[in-house]
Amino acid sequence: MSKIEWKPGNMLYPLPVVMVTAADDEGHDNIITVAWAGTVCTNPPMVSISIRPERHTWKMIRDTGEFVINLTTEKLAYATDYCGVKSGRDVDKFLETGLTREAAAHVGAPMIKESPVSIECRVREGKDYGSHWVFTADVLAVHVDKDYMDEKGKFDLAAARPIVYSHGEYYGLGKQLGTFGYSIKKRRKKKQKK
Ligand SMILES: Cc1cc2nc3c(=O)[nH]c(=O)nc-3n(C[C@H](O)[C@H](O)[C@H](O)COP(=O)(O)O)c2cc1C
Repeated sequence: MSKIEWKPGNMLYPLPVVMVTAADDEGHDNIITVAWAGTVCTNPPMVSISIRPERHTWKMIRDTGEFVINLTTEKLAYATDYCGVKSGRDVDKFLETGLTREAAAHVGAPMIKESPVSIECRVREGKDYGSHWVFTADVLAVHVDKDYMDEKGKFDLAAARPIVYSHGEYYGLGKQLGTFGYSIKKRRKKKQKK
């Protein structure tokens, strides 16, 4: 294998692509599609999103310090793309996509009912890094769709058919290759044939 060196850029793919919801203090809300999102810390649970200041949603998040991360699925792929190419300055994205607002428990931003997982967040810090501001935030609550809870109380995220974003393209998850720690689990001894 031989590699070509490129100038510095963003090539950390694939990534989850999420729909972030926010609201202002006058009762307006909005949805923005975000791929620059990440986990910051397990305990306390913290996440980050990177948003350009020119986005309509940026001011809502900066002013209120609140947002909701809504995970996306194959069924929501079209709406996810739409919310990433249209601005809330020009359209009501809930109306145009047919997505449903649901009141969150701890923040003023709405959750998206059709999303299997909605994560309520409160900003700890907003930092200007250049093209993007990074908002690091505490997770206040996680809401999961009961339809994907199995009889043992395990949440089956794969059944919701989440999507990823990779170098300009959306994909489903594909087949499972293993589970956490499978590489060091003892292999069952095969019964030797006599
Ligand atoms: C797949 C995808 C990922 C995106 N990721 C980001 C992101 O991480 N940060 C950002 O500021 N904009 C991102 N965008 C662009 C915004 O979603 C887009 O500019 C949107 O129209 C802004 O909406 P708003 O003006 O209503 O806030 C992404 C768009 C797409 C399609």
